Amino acid sequence: MLITGGAGFIGSHLVDSVMQDEAEVICVDNLYSGSRENVGHLLDNPRFEFIRHDITFPLYLEVDEIYNLACPASPKHYQADPVQTTKTNVHGAINMLGLAKRTKARILQASTSEVYGDPKEHPQTESYWGNVNPIGLRACYDEGKRAAETLFFDYWRQYNVGIKVVRIFNTYGPRMSINDGRVVSNFITNALKGLDIEIYGDGQQTRSFCYIDDLVQGLKSMMNSEKEMTGPLNLGNPSERTILELAELILKLTASKSRLRFLPLPSDDPRIRKPDITMAQKELKWLPTVEIEEGLERTIHYYNSLNNS
Ligand SMILES: NC(=O)c1ccc[n+]([C@@H]2O[C@H](COP(=O)([O-])OP(=O)(O)OC[C@H]3O[C@@H](n4cnc5c(N)ncnc54)[C@H](O)[C@@H]3O)[C@@H](O)[C@H]2O)c1
Repeated sequence: MLITGGAGFIGSHLVDSVMQDEAEVICVDNLYSGSRENVGHLLDNPRFEFIRHDITFPLYLEVDEIYNLACPASPKHYQADPVQTTKTNVHGAINMLGLAKRTKARILQASTSEVYGDPKEHPQTESYWGNVNPIGLRACYDEGKRAAETLFFDYWRQYNVGIKVVRIFNTYGPRMSINDGRVVSNFITNALKGLDIEIYGDGQQTRSFCYIDDLVQGLKSMMNSEKEMTGPLNLGNPSERTILELAELILKLTASKSRLRFLPLPSDDPRIRKPDITMAQKELKWLPTVEIEEGLERTIHYYNSLNNS
């Protein structure tokens, strides 16, 4: 099995989980936003192999399953080099789909709720086509992921490649890199340091947060579903919170004295985001099980352990 982006936040948890299933795993990552430490505990395991490689270049391997997760997920990282972000999404998808075609491997694409842009439908079902600005600052990511979905469906129609496309909504948990601009990691690290918690806009914009263990189960169920189940399929936790509620919950769980500071809203920031997961429930019998309080506690514990090590 190949996992691209396997040294990143989601990828490294997926690697841990499939290693427990006794799989043989090749992890490919260029370490742009991930880290060797995330998979450091596996480097001596004979069933695990790490290859430092950029998926915008072709790769010749023999594999039976591919999880294509390589792509920086936080705006801070994907906007630092937007051309590379589009290349990772488009050239990366072409290279991985070519590999899947040659080896007849199944291939799962980590797409994103960002394909819905600033949605005019709420909650978002898979049939909604989205409302994306094609030339905005987020386009390298949103449109890159949309183009990748196009490629996946054309490889399926044209070459009968076994594709699986999942649209992942905000996911959080241990190993999210510190200060990469993602809301949960930002809020927790600032709360633990007693720094101001910065809220963009009035904090009334909503997000739905899925704990990493739930997401990993969803990815694996989708990979193992029947061949006809191509997706696109939403994976996320429909329990919706405002950003302000999230900040207040984190302040409570960390017993922090940090203050809230309100800043202007960045451009193209979606106002509302909530998955409709009826399809995942029906087709995969998948439902998130970890409540936000519990998931946040585990994540806070992780950041605390980093501070103490
Ligand atoms: N975390 C979320 O909430 C979320 C939501 C929607 C979609 N996703 C998708 O899930 C995937 C994983 O996200 P994450 O949160 O783990 O992000 P991450 O940034 O922690 O992980 C991405 C990994 O991909 C690697 N990478 C980036 N460009 C690469 C390239 N060209 N070649 C090889 N490796 C490369 C990075 O070094 C990193 O290890 C991404 O495709 C992301 O778009 C994540």
